[in-house]
Amino acid sequence: MPKILILADLHYDFWQEAGRNPLAKADFSEIDLLVIAGDLSNKAQVRWKPALAAISHHIDLSKVCIFPGNHDFYDGRLDREDKLEAIARGVGAHFVQIQEIILGDIRLLCCTLWTDMMLGGNRERNGAEAMERMNDYRCIRVEREHYRKLRPHHTTDVHAHHLAWLDERLSAPFYGRTIVVTHHAPHPSSLAPDGAVRAAYASDLTALIARHQPDYWFFGHTHREASFRIERTQLINVSVGYPNDWASAPRLDASWRGCVW
Ligand SMILES: [Fe+2]
Repeated sequence: MPKILILADLHYDFWQEAGRNPLAKADFSEIDLLVIAGDLSNKAQVRWKPALAAISHHIDLSKVCIFPGNHDFYDGRLDREDKLEAIARGVGAHFVQIQEIILGDIRLLCCTLWTDMMLGGNRERNGAEAMERMNDYRCIRVEREHYRKLRPHHTTDVHAHHLAWLDERLSAPFYGRTIVVTHHAPHPSSLAPDGAVRAAYASDLTALIARHQPDYWFFGHTHREASFRIERTQLINVSVGYPNDWASAPRLDASWRGCVW
């Protein structure tokens, strides 16, 4: 039975800046596949390489799958994921944005997801709030539109694309277990009830989850521990988070909440 470990939001650069190592207690020796579900670092174009080099001390990078979260796009372009793919491939890791991975009797469906900006029902107001408060809309650009700054309609468009892909793949029969892995949250119950810009962190995908009922849905982005069920789907937040969230480095091994086998 393959052992798969899924984590998100390692924010390796923030730990480094704090003079700490988030991998101090990492032991991936028993792990057949490590999935990094976004936010490995800010500015992936310069920081993924050193972060992946650090991870390579714990696991062969041929066993590592990665896709970007919002932070990875900072100082980069939303529509140039090919650059991130080249970095991952260049060090021998797998870039798995909108990718299905099959390992034994487990299939993983991986994508960033973003959000529909619909929590609370007012997309326009949510978009305006996100533009004002989220660094995503200051630090990411869109190359095909003359490098203009990212706007909420760009991320909701990507969300619609990723969601359509998930819906299509989840509709395809599979004999084993199905695990969805996204960066953004598929349900608001992983958010603080009074948090700001909630619509930029989660969408409410209850209907899609109930329709397909995958075995697991792992996600990150909110840095808030959460584990809950919708029908027969177990949803688990696998964010590691910022150094301030931890008195000592997290235990990243087979006991991690994002480990399945
Ligand atoms: Fe994030």
